[in-house]
Amino acid sequence: MVHAGKEQINEIIKLSQTNAENYLKAVCSYLCEKNPKFNWTGVYILNGQMLNLAAYHGEATEHVSIKLGEGLCSLAINEDRVVNEADVKGNGKYLACFINTNSELVVPVRYQGRAIGEIDIDSDTKGAFSKEDEDFVGLVAELIAPVVSMLYVES
Ligand code: SME
Repeated sequence: MVHAGKEQINEIIKLSQTNAENYLKAVCSYLCEKNPKFNWTGVYILNGQMLNLAAYHGEATEHVSIKLGEGLCSLAINEDRVVNEADVKGNGKYLACFINTNSELVVPVRYQGRAIGEIDIDSDTKGAFSKEDEDFVGLVAELIAPVVSMLYVES
C-alpha cells in the first residue's frame, strides 16, 4: 500500500478508538446519573495480563491498570462470572479504591464467547446490588461489547 494510504488507515483506527472511549465514558456517566447508588462506574479492558481502565465516571482512581490476579476485577475475568460483593471491607481479595465504597459489582463483557473486559461499579451503600442489577448491567455489557472489542488487543 502507498504510504499515504497506510497513514489514513492508522488515523481511521485512531478515530474509532477515540470514539469508542468517548462512547464508553458517556455510558458510565449515564449509568451513574440514572442510578444514584452507582457512585463510580468504569470499564476495564483486558490487555495481556493487565486490566486497563478505558473509561469511567466518578472520582479518579489510582487503579488505572490492574494486574490480572489482583482484586475483584480480576476475579470476574479469571472466573468469567459476575462478582457481586455486598461488603467489600470484609473481602480479602478487594482492592481498595475509594474510602467510601462499601459494595461492588463487576460484570464481564464478553465478545465472541470470551471475557475481554468488564463493567465495574462501586457503591457507598452496603449490599447495594440486587440480582436485578446484575441482570441489567449484564444487558449493558452485551450492548457495549462490540465497542469494547474495538479497544481490545488480542494477545
Ligand atoms: N475494587 C476493585 C479495583 C478497582 S476500583 O473499584 C475502581 C477491585 O477489587 O478489583
